[in-house]
Amino acid sequence: MNIKVCLFACAAIAVFVSSAAAGDAALGQKVFNKCKACHEVAEPKNRVGPSLKGLFGRSAGSVEGFAYSEAMKNSGIVWSEDTLKAYLADPKTVVPGTKMSFTGLKKHEEIENILEYLEEATK
Ligand code: HEC
Repeated sequence: MNIKVCLFACAAIAVFVSSAAAGDAALGQKVFNKCKACHEVAEPKNRVGPSLKGLFGRSAGSVEGFAYSEAMKNSGIVWSEDTLKAYLADPKTVVPGTKMSFTGLKKHEEIENILEYLEEATK
């Protein structure tokens, strides 16, 4: 009887732990709902904002055919986990004069989760 209870409980814990570990990118995809009116991740298609396809390692302001602000083009930023963390927390302070109308992600977990998602989704 006790062994059966344990088997059930342990299986439930294992399922919970494995889904929590893989959960970051899934939560990040939800955070991306705040961006997707303006940004495409997987397609090289510009909307109000430039496509984010191939984002990691790319220079800021470099998508062909997108009319960036001078501020973004001249920012000298190369997008990486660190530069994105700073920019997404406070776009207007990191790139003064950016035309991205977004106040920033205020919660640390939101930024961690969205980066996890973006790293896969923009490949
Ligand atoms: C209201 C539309 C809008 C929203 C919402 C928005 N963006 Fe943007 N985003 C833009 C625009 C416009 C630019 C170009 C900014 C410039 O040229 O100054 C931009 C630029 C960027 C860049 C730089 C891209 C490059 O090619 O250099 C990144 C990265 C980015 N946005 C990510 C995000 C993420 C992640 C979110 C959600 C948390 C988000 N944006 C929300 C409109 C938006």
